[in-house]
Amino acid sequence: MGLAFPSPLVLAAGLDRHGALLQHGAALGLGAVETGSHWTPGGQPAPMSRPRTSRRTAAGQSGMRPECTAAARPLPLHGLSLVKPPALDWPRAGEAIRHAIAAWHRGADYVVLNPGRGCPSAELFADLVAALAAWRERLPRPTPLALVVKLPASWVEADRRIELARRFVGAGADGLLLSAEGAIATASVRISQLADALGPSTSLMSVGGIDSVPVARARLRAGASLLHVHRAALGSERRVRSLLCELAALRPMPRSMG
Ligand SMILES: Cc1cc2nc3c(=O)[nH]c(=O)nc-3n(C[C@H](O)[C@H](O)[C@H](O)COP(=O)(O)O)c2cc1C
Repeated sequence: MGLAFPSPLVLAAGLDRHGALLQHGAALGLGAVETGSHWTPGGQPAPMSRPRTSRRTAAGQSGMRPECTAAARPLPLHGLSLVKPPALDWPRAGEAIRHAIAAWHRGADYVVLNPGRGCPSAELFADLVAALAAWRERLPRPTPLALVVKLPASWVEADRRIELARRFVGAGADGLLLSAEGAIATASVRISQLADALGPSTSLMSVGGIDSVPVARARLRAGASLLHVHRAALGSERRVRSLLCELAALRPMPRSMG
């Protein structure tokens, strides 16, 4: 996606909606934090007060575990995770998301477009992605805004998963976030199939059930380059710190290494 993540560990959407950990997440080894949608009740982008990602490093921050302080870590990147405002119907979703990106993109490194639960079809969502991908080229930014599409497990598990994935890449997605929620057992196989079909030019990310180093390694080995963690980051502080630091120390694996 043209981005350098400090680590493959991403704090998944919905956990830090306001981006508090954009400033402090390096202490946990985070490579990125995904902040959530903030809509007014009428479906307009709400004012979002969150710290802008700066490129200073986290050396010297207090409270870091030794394994997380061995080298100065850059701050996590900022992913903006957007879903259709609940108040609006689908024909108005594209316009609402465009307004939100225009309002919020300056502090973001990439956008994740999430079809959410009620999306009528993958085809409709691909058309929306294509329109947004063309429009984002016009954003006044020093670097292009990378575009990621979140594929729910029902699309990842569909027989036509490769056709769907190609459709989103053709629409302009730089990366795909493959959800394994409800389909944990097949997660690595699906990543591997899609990595084979799409090749290295499309970044694959994995979310759903990543709660241990062996699970994380399996997803990386299958071809994911980033690991999103949500519920495993909600345990006791000691366990969470330890797990996150271990996950942050992992690295994507060239697929030929198997
Ligand atoms: C309370 C809660 C809120 C969530 N909010 C969002 C959200 O706003 N956008 C999104 O894309 N995913 C959201 N998710 C989904 C998570 O980002 C993630 O995909 C899911 O929890 C599976 O990962 P896990 O097994 O590590 O928890 C939410 C999940 C939870 C539990």
